[in-house]
Amino acid sequence: MSETPLLSAVALQKTFTVSAQSRSTRLLVALDHVSLHLSSGETLGIAGESGCGKSTLAKIMAALLTPDGGSVLYKGAPLGQLGENERKAFRRKTQMIFQDPFSSLNPRMRIGDSISEPLKIAGMPVPLQRAELTRIMAAVGLQSGDADRFPDEFSGGQRQRIGIARALAASPEILIADEPVSSLDISIQAQIINILLQMKRDFALSMMIVSHNLLILRHICDRIIIMYLGVVVECGPASELFRRCRHPYTEALIAAIPGLHVSSVSRSELLRDDLPSALSIPPGCRFHPRCRHAVDLCRREVPGLVEYAGGHTAACHLSDRLYG
Ligand SMILES: Nc1ncnc2c1ncn2[C@@H]1O[C@H](COP(=O)(O)OP(=O)(O)OP(=O)(O)O)[C@@H](O)[C@H]1O
Ligand code: SF4
Ligand SMILES: [Mg+2]
Repeated sequence: MSETPLLSAVALQKTFTVSAQSRSTRLLVALDHVSLHLSSGETLGIAGESGCGKSTLAKIMAALLTPDGGSVLYKGAPLGQLGENERKAFRRKTQMIFQDPFSSLNPRMRIGDSISEPLKIAGMPVPLQRAELTRIMAAVGLQSGDADRFPDEFSGGQRQRIGIARALAASPEILIADEPVSSLDISIQAQIINILLQMKRDFALSMMIVSHNLLILRHICDRIIIMYLGVVVECGPASELFRRCRHPYTEALIAAIPGLHVSSVSRSELLRDDLPSALSIPPGCRFHPRCRHAVDLCRREVPGLVEYAGGHTAACHLSDRLYG
């Protein structure tokens, strides 16, 4: 990678203190030395089972949460070293879209006012605000008459359009979407995905999209990162990951997609047992209790991320042997 990435993470650490039995507390490691980069114009997908740290990572990348260790760099400059004004500018340039847009909308505010808020904050003259509001609402498929309605008068899909419109009003450079369609019906999911793709083209956005749905990520992302219990286990171009993954966990996630299981090995054998608690992370390769290929080395030593051709990386001791 020769150019400085638009946004990158270097060795991010995030630990939460959680209450345990008899009033004691324990440390839960949500992210353990996570590094990644997002290039300008790129769409990066983040996948992995529930609890593997995707939302924690997304919030840290959007500067909504502070890491305990490591840093986020915007155009090479660590966020932690930005002054107050630069940090505010970064927060405006990096907008987040949530699974439930309702929670981020003021229920007593007309949606036209909610969407225009970033325009007002940016000091845009009122007549220009109105024109921009009309333009943005049309871009996400909302009617101009919708501006006077309140959030609870809209369906889930329409609310997500409102969430996207509000994010776009801040003229972002980066959009970070955390499960933007997982609460929507399948038909509405496709509409929202198409809007995101259209926005990416029309507004020249770089995007980071968190999703359980690997098929959606394959459809819209340039690269996909696979996380497991707080670490990155594989990262590669979306098509390459599906053509030839290099980690047994990725293989299991792909095999779990209905209609895509082509192996003679059953799905339950590819992914044994349930996900362990993040409070008791297995030693060595943290995937080893569920991996059918695990050998002694896997139980003892943490596999490092190895770089393969085409910007593909994977952390598995046996990747070469298993995937060539
Ligand atoms: N504020 C918090 N306090 C304590 N633990 C937390 C907190 N936020 C997240 N966690 C824990 O950190 C781990 C990672 O959580 P995170 O929400 O990032 O996972 P996720 O991959 O987004 O999961 P999901 O797919 O269910 O949204 C989980 O074990 C979660 O329980
Ligand atoms: S390092 Fe070992 S346990 Fe971990 S994924 Fe590779 S083969 Fe499986
Ligand atoms: Mg989440």
